[in-house]
Amino acid sequence: MARLSWTLLLAITSLANVGAGLSIATGNHSLPRPTWQLLTTGSTARFRGLAPVSDKIAWVSGVGGTVLRTTDGGRTWASVGPAPSSSGDNADVATLDFRDVEAWSAEKAVVLSIGEGNSSRVYVTGDGGASWARSFTNQEAAAFYDCIAFESPEHGMAMSDPVDGKIRLIETRDGGRSWDVVEPDGMAPALEGEAGFAASGTCLATTAGRWYIAAGGVNPSRVFRSGDGHAWDVSDAAIAGGEGAGVFSVQFRDAKHGIAVGGNYSDPAGNIDNAAWTKDGGATWLPAAAFPDGYRSGSAWVPGRGYCDAALAVGPSGSDFTLDGGKSWHRFDNGSFDSVECVKGPVCWASGENGRVARLVLT
Ligand SMILES: *[C@@H]1O[C@H](CO)[C@@H](O)[C@H](O)[C@H]1NC(C)=O
Ligand SMILES: *[C@@H]1O[C@H](CO)[C@@H](O)[C@H](O)[C@H]1NC(C)=O
Ligand SMILES: *[C@@H]1O[C@H](CO)[C@@H](O)[C@H](O)[C@H]1NC(C)=O
Ligand SMILES: *[C@@H]1O[C@H](CO)[C@@H](O)[C@H](O)[C@H]1NC(C)=O
Repeated sequence: MARLSWTLLLAITSLANVGAGLSIATGNHSLPRPTWQLLTTGSTARFRGLAPVSDKIAWVSGVGGTVLRTTDGGRTWASVGPAPSSSGDNADVATLDFRDVEAWSAEKAVVLSIGEGNSSRVYVTGDGGASWARSFTNQEAAAFYDCIAFESPEHGMAMSDPVDGKIRLIETRDGGRSWDVVEPDGMAPALEGEAGFAASGTCLATTAGRWYIAAGGVNPSRVFRSGDGHAWDVSDAAIAGGEGAGVFSVQFRDAKHGIAVGGNYSDPAGNIDNAAWTKDGGATWLPAAAFPDGYRSGSAWVPGRGYCDAALAVGPSGSDFTLDGGKSWHRFDNGSFDSVECVKGPVCWASGENGRVARLVLT
């Protein structure tokens, strides 16, 4: 069933991309499957931050203040992270963990570092990483920023674990160059122990002007949703939660259809109650009928006509795909990844530990 549909998708893709090297037209239903093609980054950093722009351009970010960028489809990578200054506020950038990155071109990108106190920061570049400006430095002891997301190159938000009982958001309307704390009045209260996971940059997501937050730490875990980023509701996510467990990633294809994946970080092979789907904008979530084969930290819809119900999920114990909007998942790879993101083409990229970055190929 699943393979059959990949064949159909592939046929659609080959029609759309003549010359792209895809040549499945025989209707051999046992042939095509998605596989990751590993790229050589020359780094051993763990890349939880991932921002593909196209089939050629992608940014990854992670520990040690590392930011890498490719402009040739992943053949070569340049280290373009903020350079430590010899003294002053940016002397410690090489100690930062850039868990999330957003990018719009080979020039423009925004990175978020996570951690206690002033380790949670945002840096922006407009020249491909030649220079960076620090545009946000957390000063609140209770805040811990997890994820950043943009609905347009100008309008973005970053999300922190609760401060005074509510998930904290900051907002930019100038492409990340300046940030304001969002009034907490409209935020639904967090439960005791509830927090986000800075695992893949997808604990905060935005689609079609709407916003979503994946959270865990409580059972059942929950997904927050908002039509404008300011007035928030919350629903049980049908994913088991607890300490180190819950929803790690939420993604919407449109205003109605969403997927949520997660599980227990300490149980990478655990494959029960770790994924859910919604068709009513996140008001109600239903558990998957066939779960991803392990804890999954990241997820992404495959964009483009003909792919409307296809999505990917990745985690340290492997990767899965769904062709029915998250109802049933099928493992296709055993390698470790933390993050996955797709752009038009469609082109899907994954990144994770030990410098691993890959692109999806349908063979
Ligand atoms: C279909 O795939 C199988 C397994 O790879 C192969 O043995 C067979 O020859 C293929 N049939 C056609 C018609 O291509
Ligand atoms: C972060 O805090 C440390 C210790 O309180 C301080 O030395 C350092 O200058 C601060 N850095 C920034 C960027 O605010
Ligand atoms: C997560 O998995 C670990 C290791 O199996 C286990 O000790 C822990 O109780 C699990 N946590 C939850 C919330 O299920
Ligand atoms: C993944 O590992 C399992 C168990 O070792 C194996 O049965 C399965 O064939 C592997 N899957 C892939 C896609 O390599």
